Amino acid sequence: MDEPPYYYLLTTYISYLILIVFGHVRDFFGKRFREEHYRHLQAMDGYAPLNSDFDNFYVRRLKMRINDCFSRPVTGVPGRYITLVDRKSDDHNLHFQLTGTTTETLNMSSYNYLGFAQSEGPCADAVEEAVKKYGMTTASPRGDAGTSDLHVEVEDLIAKFVGKPAAMVFSMGFGTNATAFPALVGKGCLIISDELNHASIRFGARLSGAMIEMFKHNDVKDLERLLREVISQGQPRTHRPWKKILVVLEGLYSMEGSMCNLPSIVALKRKYKFNLFVDEAHSVGALGPKGRGVCDYFGVDTSEVDILMGTLTKSFGANGGYIAGDKAIIEKLRTTNAGTIFGESPTPPVLAQISSALRCITGEISPGQGEERLQRLAFNSRYLRLGLKRLGFIVYGHDDSPIIPLLLYNPAKMPAFSHEMLKRKISVVVVGYPATPLVSSRARFCVSAAHTKDDLDRLLSACDEIGSVLQLKFSSGVAGGAEPLPEGVTLEMEKEWKRQEKLDGQGQMMVQPPRWRLNEVLKRGVQDVKMPLR
Ligand SMILES: Cc1ncc(COP(=O)(O)O)c(C=O)c1O
Repeated sequence: MDEPPYYYLLTTYISYLILIVFGHVRDFFGKRFREEHYRHLQAMDGYAPLNSDFDNFYVRRLKMRINDCFSRPVTGVPGRYITLVDRKSDDHNLHFQLTGTTTETLNMSSYNYLGFAQSEGPCADAVEEAVKKYGMTTASPRGDAGTSDLHVEVEDLIAKFVGKPAAMVFSMGFGTNATAFPALVGKGCLIISDELNHASIRFGARLSGAMIEMFKHNDVKDLERLLREVISQGQPRTHRPWKKILVVLEGLYSMEGSMCNLPSIVALKRKYKFNLFVDEAHSVGALGPKGRGVCDYFGVDTSEVDILMGTLTKSFGANGGYIAGDKAIIEKLRTTNAGTIFGESPTPPVLAQISSALRCITGEISPGQGEERLQRLAFNSRYLRLGLKRLGFIVYGHDDSPIIPLLLYNPAKMPAFSHEMLKRKISVVVVGYPATPLVSSRARFCVSAAHTKDDLDRLLSACDEIGSVLQLKFSSGVAGGAEPLPEGVTLEMEKEWKRQEKLDGQGQMMVQPPRWRLNEVLKRGVQDVKMPLR
């Protein structure tokens, strides 16, 4: 992968240093001369502060500077376009006032992979029907009176879709992980988690009481090293064997755009006999020829993964999460999972959305539409990623990932990039420390089947302009792969020419920089996507 020049890394560190030093200087004088602004952060009348000045230093002194780039209020459907409710701040982002106007922007920020975030079409109609028939709520947890025929139907559909004997739905994706782990593992068990796993996995793992170990992100060798160590050592102090070892991964990582290396993990599983949990929040619906997630993508039999978890918030345009696995596991979850016993059951309109989106993907309703959505997403993801690489941007992640992080590095480039995009009426998410490592602030594009090629071309030309001004084109373009061979030229012929040129002392002449200009990217992009990367 291309790396930015050291100069950019150095200036990134220096930027943070300056921000931190300035912040402390402001705090030092502020506490003395503007005491009233710090009162809530200090102990008073014998009460400890709930929020200390040290705890929220990052929020006050770093995030606040660029707060207008985050949590922008929106209205309407987060589809191909998203409507921002305009706001302004007169006190450096401390408070915002709504201006009373709205701005329609191209939406590159929502997890609307298959474009099911819609207020019209077959899914919206099904939701309307469900509200008429069932109302808005079951007004009860699942275990009491909260299991309707809709719940049973959706659970069957999900189980069939992901290829597992049984499934169970939850009213919240975060809550699915937060409450599933304590029901699956406990004291004497070991959870081995990818270091970049989502907060919901960490939260659930901690609640479970199991020991937790982490391996380097997507590093199968590191996982094997860890497995050998923990299996040979057993539980701490007693050295008894672990009751269970549960390895937890995500199918597609939402900050990195990286995909888990499922075939290698499955090979390890066969060797070391651990249980495998894969969180498909971002991969179900978005990956694989049939949209059934990472197993579908890699052609791995779903029986190789013990538990497939996913959320219904993203590809299905609904809400909630699911766990799919063997019947015995699901039965156990139904009886021991605190989220389902004590929490509200998923609501009828949400279930209708899930059911109709799933039927649409499988072709049961609106035949052909599901397939088209999958193909559009696959094309859009590759087209945008390859275009950005060809233009010279450093992007992270897998070539087929619909999540495309574009590296900005310097913290000051986050607001600059976000503002420039907004000027061009494009909404993007910018992410920095602590959600990413200190030096790798990024903008994140979420591609959707709802986007057209024109939308992506508009984004590419905006990136091209902004990237030149902000000096973001660090890559040689090599990551986009070598130029496709002209028609009639084979790899062998090219090799022979290169060898010949070398013999003639002309070797350098053959090397063409693979970076493309914007007009080339727009003209040749579609063809480029179809060619295998060289
Ligand atoms: C990997 C992963 N798991 C779980 C969740 C939680 O899902 P939800 O937002 O539907 O609560 C997310 C959310 O983004 C996620 O990325």
